[in-house]
Amino acid sequence: MIRVGKQNRVFILTGAGVSAESGIPTFRGAGGLWRNYRIEAVASPEAWARDPVLVWEFYSMRRKMAKAARPNAAHVALAELESKIGERLFLCTQNVDNLHEQAGSTHVTHMHGELLKTRCERCLREPFADDACYEPPVAIPRCECGGKLRPHICWFGEVPFKLDSIFAELERCALFVAIGTSGVVEPAASFVAQVRARARTYYVGPELPANHSAFEECFQGEAGKIVPDLFRLD
Ligand code: APR
Repeated sequence: MIRVGKQNRVFILTGAGVSAESGIPTFRGAGGLWRNYRIEAVASPEAWARDPVLVWEFYSMRRKMAKAARPNAAHVALAELESKIGERLFLCTQNVDNLHEQAGSTHVTHMHGELLKTRCERCLREPFADDACYEPPVAIPRCECGGKLRPHICWFGEVPFKLDSIFAELERCALFVAIGTSGVVEPAASFVAQVRARARTYYVGPELPANHSAFEECFQGEAGKIVPDLFRLD
């Protein structure tokens, strides 16, 4: 159980594990490969330059999976926490699905982008909602400017989104809770080390993450079973 004081600001970082019980496979677990491609081989600017058709096939497959998925008890519990503590909760997710939003969370920071959005690789038009699948023989979609339209995802080698607000929140949170993330991908894997000197730090997941020594306590188990009863509000 994690006690949340009346003034405490809570930083929650979620990873693929929070969506596992909704049927979306994690990246580094058993089902983590796609057609024997490692995620790094299809989620990178190099892959996009080399074979944009393959990249859109990968993201079209992920869009289909995400559209078939429903929030689980962990997503619902985090939405309820937001309804109770409001803007004292900063929900930062590495996930690109919209299950937090489907569960009712209204302030979600998607540091790795959003699967159901598309943007132009060339011009500065805003990313736009798009759940379409672009698989052969459907051509790569084009922007009016002539640029190729790409998934609104932060690929390996690109800079994650909203880092300013993330680091600002890390500076002032009293509680840091990571849920379902293996702690191997930066910069998210180092967030806990940045806050542990002055915030309480917890991890939730069935196996210890790579950065487990930085957490003061690890709740071992599935998010859908642990998160609903995890927080006690003063
Ligand atoms: N509940 C909680 N955690 C779970 C569950 C569950 N039911 N099932 C699996 N996990 C844990 C695993 O033990 C693992 O530690 O979720 C974690 C998933 O780790 P990864 O697959 O590495 O996913 P993540 O840490 O989110 O990856 C970070 O890497 O591939 C990139 O951009 C991608 O955002 C992703 C980033």
